[in-house]
Amino acid sequence: MSGENSSTPTSITLPWASDFHCHLRQGAMMETVTPMGRPHGPAMPNLTPPLTTTQMAVDYGKKLQKLAPNVHFILTLYLNPALTPAEIPRLQQPVYPSGVTTNSDWGAMQEANMVLCLHGECPSDAAKGICILNAEERFLATLRELHQAFPKLRIVLEHATTQAAVEHTVGCTITAHHLFIIIDDWAGHPHHFCKPVAKFPHDRDALRERPSALFPWLDSAPHPRSAKQGEKPAAGVFTTPILIPLMATLFDKMECLDKLEGFISTYGRQFYGLPEPIDGTITLVRLPLAVPAAYAVSGSASDGETVVPFMASTEIGWSIAKTE
Ligand code: DOR
Repeated sequence: MSGENSSTPTSITLPWASDFHCHLRQGAMMETVTPMGRPHGPAMPNLTPPLTTTQMAVDYGKKLQKLAPNVHFILTLYLNPALTPAEIPRLQQPVYPSGVTTNSDWGAMQEANMVLCLHGECPSDAAKGICILNAEERFLATLRELHQAFPKLRIVLEHATTQAAVEHTVGCTITAHHLFIIIDDWAGHPHHFCKPVAKFPHDRDALRERPSALFPWLDSAPHPRSAKQGEKPAAGVFTTPILIPLMATLFDKMECLDKLEGFISTYGRQFYGLPEPIDGTITLVRLPLAVPAAYAVSGSASDGETVVPFMASTEIGWSIAKTE
């Protein structure tokens, strides 16, 4: 870090952030968003059709690698009935359950030292009193049972949004946007709507208190503007192009810039065993960055479509001076 003194740095050089849960999509959106960051880390399998076999994941990885040759992608698979316990040791990928799982799946994964990435929400069910505001909290009992039954299984509760989750889980990740928004920010604002939804101010405060214990699941989830602004907005917030300056802005405000590198890179890389050192660095300076209103989705099929980033048309406190 450099600056007038070590407590008020005006510039920082860091290794590139790693994105521990990126949605890189397909087609024109994939071509647009994949080169925007250097998302070393797991790429999510919720494509059309979803990635359910190792071969599908390998083929998808080749497409991503072409768009971003220096990035280390971890391909993930949906845990699905075709992935039998006998096959699990042969898989190289973390798995993301699609809802069909058995105890023998978990046991086989534990044996193989695999990572289980969980979208930890119970499905909404009015009869049981479950809705999007308590769906994560209601899931925590299941998570505890799973952990007790398979204590060595490496479970990540993805995108924790509640105080209860960060206080009661063994390992969880956190998104950039959940460090900023609460219910009031997404109600009536489709570009802030995601799943799980952002919760109460005390939940956001609890997430902000944990920067040294968690790693960000960037969960940059781009959708075309038309899908976000349609009758039933698609869930997802697009943060890739501003992630690192945004995190610097927040950590500066919280007076813990010294924890930034661990949060955006080191802890997650250690967890996933990614190679060190990471390729390239990024130098940030404390100068305002004007976030664009939207980015064009490239490709002839996209027909003038755009994707709107988090914090669109606002200024954030840090910007990128140099990348290497
Ligand atoms: O907000 C979300 N967006 N939550 C998910 O679970 C999926 C993701 C997406 O793929 O857009």
